[in-house]
Amino acid sequence: MNEAIKKTAKKFVIANWKMHGSLEQNHALLESYVSTLDNLKDTQVVVCVPYPYLAQVQSLLQGSGIAWGAQNLAKNENGPFTGEVSAQMLRDFGCEYVILGHSERATAYCESDGNIAEKFMVAMQHGITPILCVGETLIEREAGVMELKVGKQLDTIIDLYGADVFDGVVVSYEPIWAIGTGLAATPEQAGAMHKFIFDKLSQPNEAQKKPVKILYGGSVNPQNAVQLFEVENIDGGLIGKCSLNPQEFEGICQAAESSVG
Ligand code: PGA
Repeated sequence: MNEAIKKTAKKFVIANWKMHGSLEQNHALLESYVSTLDNLKDTQVVVCVPYPYLAQVQSLLQGSGIAWGAQNLAKNENGPFTGEVSAQMLRDFGCEYVILGHSERATAYCESDGNIAEKFMVAMQHGITPILCVGETLIEREAGVMELKVGKQLDTIIDLYGADVFDGVVVSYEPIWAIGTGLAATPEQAGAMHKFIFDKLSQPNEAQKKPVKILYGGSVNPQNAVQLFEVENIDGGLIGKCSLNPQEFEGICQAAESSVG
């Protein structure tokens, strides 16, 4: 891992491969990532892959400037939890990041805010940076309660562990209606929510050593990334579909790099 790049990164672009890939496809995709993205100066690229591919990602990305992580972890350290994967196991494969609370998991596997909060703390205790996903449904947006929803998701963690635990963490605002739909939030919609999250997490925390990074996720593509990444408090993106296409992902990463003034 190239620590120099990581420490100075102003923007983050995180690939969420979801349940996609094969050894052969991953190999080609990762080679392309390394050849086009390794030298970005102001942007930290992270790739979050299905568990079985962590060893492959580790061997192909080790020594590059690109970091990697998983898409979930168990809240327990070890024990009789069939099918679960612990934080220590992720560390064994060099994971520095883990996506937590993605709405696709929260909906399909009934992950409560409390459960996600526990996983958040387990990740922190193992030196893995959480990428905490928050966001509202279309019904909640139309009812005007999107800040209430996102506020509650963040408050669950703050109430349990205090606001300081967000030091150096990545939060991704992911309106559920924008994920995989081709309909991204407008820069105004995203900007308003990012300001809300920024104000909530940074106010009690002025002495932060490492500020929280707030990403936007949901139908980001190389075109809309240019505008979105210029918006105040948008520190980059969490990218699903376009992360599987090397040219589109490169375009998004270049948009992040160019947005740094
Ligand atoms: P998408 O996914 O880019 O395919 O909309 C984003 C996400 O799920 O984080």
